[in-house]
Amino acid sequence: MTAPKLALSDNAVTDITADVVVIGTVQQDGGGFTLAPGAEAVDAVFDGSLVDVLTSLGAGGKAEEVVKVPTLGRLKAGVVLAVGLGKADPTAEQVRRAAGAAARALTGVKRAHNFLSVVDLRAAIEGTVLGAYTFTQYKSEAGEGPVGRVDFASPNTKETKAVLKTATAIAEAVATARDLINTPPNDLFPASFAERAVKLGEAAGLTVEVLDEKALRRGGYGGILGVGSGSARLPRLVRLSYKGPKAAKKVALVGKGITFDTGGISIKPAANMEEMTSDMSGAAAVVASVVLAAKLKYPLEVIATVPIAENMPSGTSYRPGDVLTMYGGKTVEVLNTDAEGRLILADAIVRAGEDDPDYLIETATLTGAQVVALGKRTAGVMGSDDFRDRVARIGQSVGENAWAMPLPDELRSDLDSRVADLANVTGHRWGGMLAAGQFLKEFVPDGLDWAHIDVAGPAYNSGGAYGYTTRGGTGVPVRTIAAVLADIAENG
Ligand code: BES
Ligand code: MN
Ligand code: ZN
Repeated sequence: MTAPKLALSDNAVTDITADVVVIGTVQQDGGGFTLAPGAEAVDAVFDGSLVDVLTSLGAGGKAEEVVKVPTLGRLKAGVVLAVGLGKADPTAEQVRRAAGAAARALTGVKRAHNFLSVVDLRAAIEGTVLGAYTFTQYKSEAGEGPVGRVDFASPNTKETKAVLKTATAIAEAVATARDLINTPPNDLFPASFAERAVKLGEAAGLTVEVLDEKALRRGGYGGILGVGSGSARLPRLVRLSYKGPKAAKKVALVGKGITFDTGGISIKPAANMEEMTSDMSGAAAVVASVVLAAKLKYPLEVIATVPIAENMPSGTSYRPGDVLTMYGGKTVEVLNTDAEGRLILADAIVRAGEDDPDYLIETATLTGAQVVALGKRTAGVMGSDDFRDRVARIGQSVGENAWAMPLPDELRSDLDSRVADLANVTGHRWGGMLAAGQFLKEFVPDGLDWAHIDVAGPAYNSGGAYGYTTRGGTGVPVRTIAAVLADIAENG
């Protein structure tokens, strides 16, 4: 992806040399709309007539509405682009979405000057970078490309420079996750994903370790090996470790890395199967997050444990009826080879637990039941009560819409197996997201603060772009993980 160049600018409106000037509009409680803070000087150039002009062009301040006005020589910029923030007193998320919608509407523009930063600098930057994201690696013709440069209206101080740096790093981490997810499964398979993770990790100064299939066998990683056994492209376990200055807490990250999920012998229907290229979104998110922790020098120790496999049907596949001996010795009866994510995660969770972390954050595109329960844009969070609620609250505060979900006891007994310690599915479809959570809980060390984020819906946008969410991989829950890490760094 080519990200726009970003800068802070306190230029007077008449000195702006950009091609397009971006301002916000806000709905008024009683109807109609006003200009958002920051637009005053632009309005003055129009003799205070901007609301009337925009109204005549059909504007109403509605969230993400984009209306363009020619400046006809009043400014050096040829166009004012007004983007709707939605209802009054806009939140950071409203600014982020408006900035994203504006960035998408700026495709092909060389340089823009953005006044949304007067409302919220950080949200304006994040929304701009994320909305401008493109993935064109596989297009033979380049097309117009995203906006080349954006100047954000802002004083240039130590504080605002720090905001620019943080917001850019976070948005770039999301873009890194999106790039990995959007890479097709013929090019992103266990070994190549592991290589990319190692490159990203080494560039950020992390300690990296890769277990190949032989090392996995020596180590007894029966879950990862079982799931990976059907593919000619053998599985991996990647570990990326960061130890920050004055690291007071240790956080373990685990993410599901199924580079393609056919379902295996319990094969999936053909319709939409191509979306299972995104079944490594959890892994992409934790790789991007540990790299981000190093870039932002969080005062934490962060260790990502990333199991990677391809779930294929073949003569060598694992099959329904198999019993796998997982890392750490627990046995699992496989009743459905399409419930593969929990099997590779179980190995990784046990391995991550050996580092004796203070917190475990684990994320996966784990269940279709998550999408049924919460839809395409809200992640389900399970785990130990307090940490689960903390992660869900922080997920909401960054606009990634996480919701706390329970782990009912009866679903654990529904996982009892005739032959093994437990089965990988319940044999009924009720509470499928929660049953998967109960399965994972078996492998989490007792007493560890743990959160499992099921992003089966939110990780991948199969519809059109909206706000700062482009098509394909979304990078959810990178910003939630980043914010939880920042919160742990600050509050323990
Ligand atoms: N990767 C899928 C879950 C999924 C579904 C992700 C839709 C994104 C969109 C997972 O491996 C899976 O197949 N889960 C099964 C579990 C079932 C067999 C208990 C499911 O949800 O159907
Ligand atoms: Mn599956
Ligand atoms: Zn899967």
